[in-house]
Amino acid sequence: MRALETQPSAELGCLKYLTNPHYCVKLTKSSMFWDPNLYDTKHSFVWERGAELIDLLAPAAGERILDLGCGTGHLTAKIAAFDSETIGIDSSPAMIAEASRNYPALHFEVADARDFWFDRPFDAIFSNAALHWITEPERVVESVHEALKPGGRFVAEFGGKGNVQALVQAFYDSLQLLGRASTEVKNPWYFPGIAEYSSLLESHGFEVVFATLFDRPTPLDQGQEGMRNWITMFAGAFCAAIPPERRDAFVRRVEQLLQPSLFRDGGWYVDYRRLRIVARKI
Ligand code: BEZ
Repeated sequence: MRALETQPSAELGCLKYLTNPHYCVKLTKSSMFWDPNLYDTKHSFVWERGAELIDLLAPAAGERILDLGCGTGHLTAKIAAFDSETIGIDSSPAMIAEASRNYPALHFEVADARDFWFDRPFDAIFSNAALHWITEPERVVESVHEALKPGGRFVAEFGGKGNVQALVQAFYDSLQLLGRASTEVKNPWYFPGIAEYSSLLESHGFEVVFATLFDRPTPLDQGQEGMRNWITMFAGAFCAAIPPERRDAFVRRVEQLLQPSLFRDGGWYVDYRRLRIVARKI
């Protein structure tokens, strides 16, 4: 397969840099904030919640299946357990290194979802909690289409229209309160509705056979610290717009704004909304 070189981009800081400069390695856009350890220890819900999607995929023995945006490989391994020939790809070298350590018998590759290519087509392409990170969805859909056999299925779940709406609003409000223009940070995520994403698939040679958009408020671990950890892991684009010495104030402001709606019974919830979709290549 061809794994594309990633484009170096501006270094992005992260919150823990405030207290421990060794915590953050230099980051490029493609690997931004992907600390596999933080991902697996404090945000395991990302892949644990994805297990339901495997039921929808219904892997069969002998099928060739691609896990697109495989992270640390836990769902890839669950799919492979159906005796399918499963490959995991992710744009983050750190995630792929961890996936290979976790599951040395499986095949993982660093690759870009917008431009990947394999010499043999797949029966199915699976993707959990990855596609909202890619703001060029047409390129992803084109690559997926090209990589599937005719009749092959694309089974994906990611953030849908309205996902993390309260959080995004709190990020922009807090930026403004700290004197930054909201135009300074472009929303880094892609959260389409059913109609938008189905149209995209249909215009690229797919037939959509199932689509649903549903709220999935998700509890975070670590009590009071949960939101701070989530921001550290996932909201680097917003943190990077704030000078390091003001990031802690930024996060505290976000927490204050969200407390009434997203903190209950001693813990934080994230206002996730999932788009779950199954399409077939025509
Ligand atoms: C999500 O899984 O919906 C998500 C994760 C991180 C940032 C934004 C959305």
